[in-house]
Amino acid sequence: MPDGTVSKQRKYPISKRANKLSPSGIRRFFDLLASTEGVISLGVGEPDYSTPWHISEAAIKSLEKGYTMYTSNLGIPELREELTVQLKADYDVEYDPDNEILITVGSSEALDLSIRAILNPGDEVIMPDPCYVAYESCIIMAGGTPVKVPTNQENNFEISASDIEGHITERTKAILIGYPANPTGAVMDREQLMQIAEVALRNHLLVISDEIYAKLVYGVEHTCFSSLPGMKANSILLGGFSKAYAMTGWRIGYAAAPAEILAAITKIHQYTMMCAPTMSQVAALEALKSGGDSVIEMVNDYNKRRKVIVKGLSDIGLSCFEPKGAFYAFPSIKCTGMTSEEFAEKLLTEEKVAVVPGSAFGQCGEGYVRCCYATSLADIEEALSRMKRFVNRYKEG
Ligand SMILES: Cc1ncc(COP(=O)(O)O)c(C=O)c1O
Repeated sequence: MPDGTVSKQRKYPISKRANKLSPSGIRRFFDLLASTEGVISLGVGEPDYSTPWHISEAAIKSLEKGYTMYTSNLGIPELREELTVQLKADYDVEYDPDNEILITVGSSEALDLSIRAILNPGDEVIMPDPCYVAYESCIIMAGGTPVKVPTNQENNFEISASDIEGHITERTKAILIGYPANPTGAVMDREQLMQIAEVALRNHLLVISDEIYAKLVYGVEHTCFSSLPGMKANSILLGGFSKAYAMTGWRIGYAAAPAEILAAITKIHQYTMMCAPTMSQVAALEALKSGGDSVIEMVNDYNKRRKVIVKGLSDIGLSCFEPKGAFYAFPSIKCTGMTSEEFAEKLLTEEKVAVVPGSAFGQCGEGYVRCCYATSLADIEEALSRMKRFVNRYKEG
């Protein structure tokens, strides 16, 4: 239109790929939540802690010193260096800080870039169902095809190597896993991951391993996938600071990969982000150097909350598999006869408790809801008592 107004018939040129994406099922609940007063939220997947002050202070000091320019595309050398030192110390896996580490805008960017760097249109990526909401969308945006492998409560929501193998076709390019898992809290042990590594190697597949929750494990050890025999050269490790150091808003993460893959990832990063936020890189360095005690404190606290929520949900009659990592419980709500959407919506409007419907994470999440327990014990206890009232009202039989 000549005056710049838009006619009602105007059809904007949205790409087929963007049209193919469904809006995040989590976002819809955030919006509902924001417009309701007095809600206890077990919805949002982020720590209720503020970033430890010494971490914020390091960033503030860097701003005071005028440290506000772009950094190298890869990220500041001190941060890459420290990251490699810690990966070696924690998991005995060695990365070259100059060629194998890229600092990104959250692990979200690392995920997106990794997928875009390796996929050609039509390539298939195998992933668990249910899983983190971004996996499927990133694959679709890269022109790929997500291939979902069902997991279930009976198998502790672990993806089995033989099921993966059963889904491999000549188009399969990679396997995308994320343990500890969102939304289930599942953790896979070294033995099981070795079996996946063996399938990947035998079929010449890359493994993208999203280890954003690596430090949030309870009574079990985290296995870094790239530390398994043969896997450093055949996997991309995604990590970040959001969850362990309570730094979601800083938007800082990383990808670690063989040099050739990292170079491809870095090319896309160069033209899209240029570099991760400078002050966030300084904060992340401080987190790595001196944030260990805070992580231990937070993990101990999450563990207390985890025990309370798992027991509480089971007592209400919502059978709940014991999550060993992240900060989510994933109880079955099948006894109410509702879909997970119905359950979440009714629970929010009738009892003002926000949870996320399991269906937001894939078909196999239907019949479950995700409850994030990174919130105060008092709120968890109040949420449980409201949920008890709710479930008693609707329980079938
Ligand atoms: C499994 C998983 N991966 C990646 C992310 C993104 O984290 P970041 O804040 O580092 O982008 C999340 C956030 O919820 C997540 O749950």
